[in-house]
Amino acid sequence: MDAPERYRTRMSDLQTRLETIVSTAEQAAADASTLDELKRAEGRYVGRKSVLDEIMRSISTVPPEQRKSVGQETNAAKKRLHKLFAARRDALQSADVAAESARASHYDPTLPGPVRNQGTVHPVTRVQWEIEDLFGRLGFIVASGPELETEYYNFEALNTPADHPARDMQDTFWTTDDRVLRTQTSAVQVRMMEKFGPPLRIIAPGRCFRYETIDASHENTFFQLEGLVIDRNISIANLIATMKLLLREVFRGDPEVRLRPGYFPFVEPGFELDMSCMICGGGGCSTCKKTGWLEILPCGMVHPNVLRAGGIDAHEYVGFAFGLGLTRLAMMKYGIGDIRVLNGGDLRVLVPRERLTGPVIATR
Ligand code: DAH
Repeated sequence: MDAPERYRTRMSDLQTRLETIVSTAEQAAADASTLDELKRAEGRYVGRKSVLDEIMRSISTVPPEQRKSVGQETNAAKKRLHKLFAARRDALQSADVAAESARASHYDPTLPGPVRNQGTVHPVTRVQWEIEDLFGRLGFIVASGPELETEYYNFEALNTPADHPARDMQDTFWTTDDRVLRTQTSAVQVRMMEKFGPPLRIIAPGRCFRYETIDASHENTFFQLEGLVIDRNISIANLIATMKLLLREVFRGDPEVRLRPGYFPFVEPGFELDMSCMICGGGGCSTCKKTGWLEILPCGMVHPNVLRAGGIDAHEYVGFAFGLGLTRLAMMKYGIGDIRVLNGGDLRVLVPRERLTGPVIATR
């Protein structure tokens, strides 16, 4: 019974008609095999312009004394139909879910979803995280120290007393109370020796400051990542192996490197580890000052005076340290030729976020 029929609503006929409507509706609901079909059938029986609607609207043609019971009967039928369609809808819905899980029986809706690495981070942060992950796996802890540092930890404790010419290598921002904006993350070294004692394996990424004239490769604010290992029987071979591993991990290959002597008061011997400039491919550009090489990994064996400042017996323990130019490394890795771009707040330099594991953090 598709199209609504006109009903003359004589009371004697009404009940039979309603019975017929309910039973045909039952049939239509049962026949509906999809939720869409069911919706259409429901519209025909209980929606606007449906058969029942028609009866209700013709109620004025019924003798007044019968109107109440016609209304009640019709409403009761309507209620039954609503229930009927709701029950069928539930049945179809759960059949849908069952069919879906039968189709993909390997699908377990209770499992947690894959973690998406959403968003972007600064290239320096990204490289820092990568190195933290690597050294975390090697048993290092990630340490940090203050950016506003004492002269002692930034210089004195690092075998660089007040009259030491090496202080001139680092143009320093001094505060009026004789503290410094740390010029190097090396300042964290003696803090951690005091805190943990030997043996020790830390890395300390962080921001450093120098009173520099700004150009393509110099900024007054930049990031370094300090590394420090102290133990018995540590040798230069351990240092070189660690540096190579670091660069291999960051560049996913073996970039060309060279090691040459370098002077830093807090290491003896000290080295400069250079890597071939990846901006110009070694041909010479403004980033590498036309040399084709970038000083990226100064390092060396920890000077006994530094061990002593950290309260460590320099006869029993040795160590190596390195001070990675994190900002420079990020420039190499992402092919950014001008350091000012990194500090300029340009969102286009951001790179995909990705963090494998959380670091173990130690603060001063
Ligand atoms: N702190 C030094 C600088 O900023 C870099 C450095 C050199 C760190 C040698 C080290 C090291 O740990 O062993 O110039």
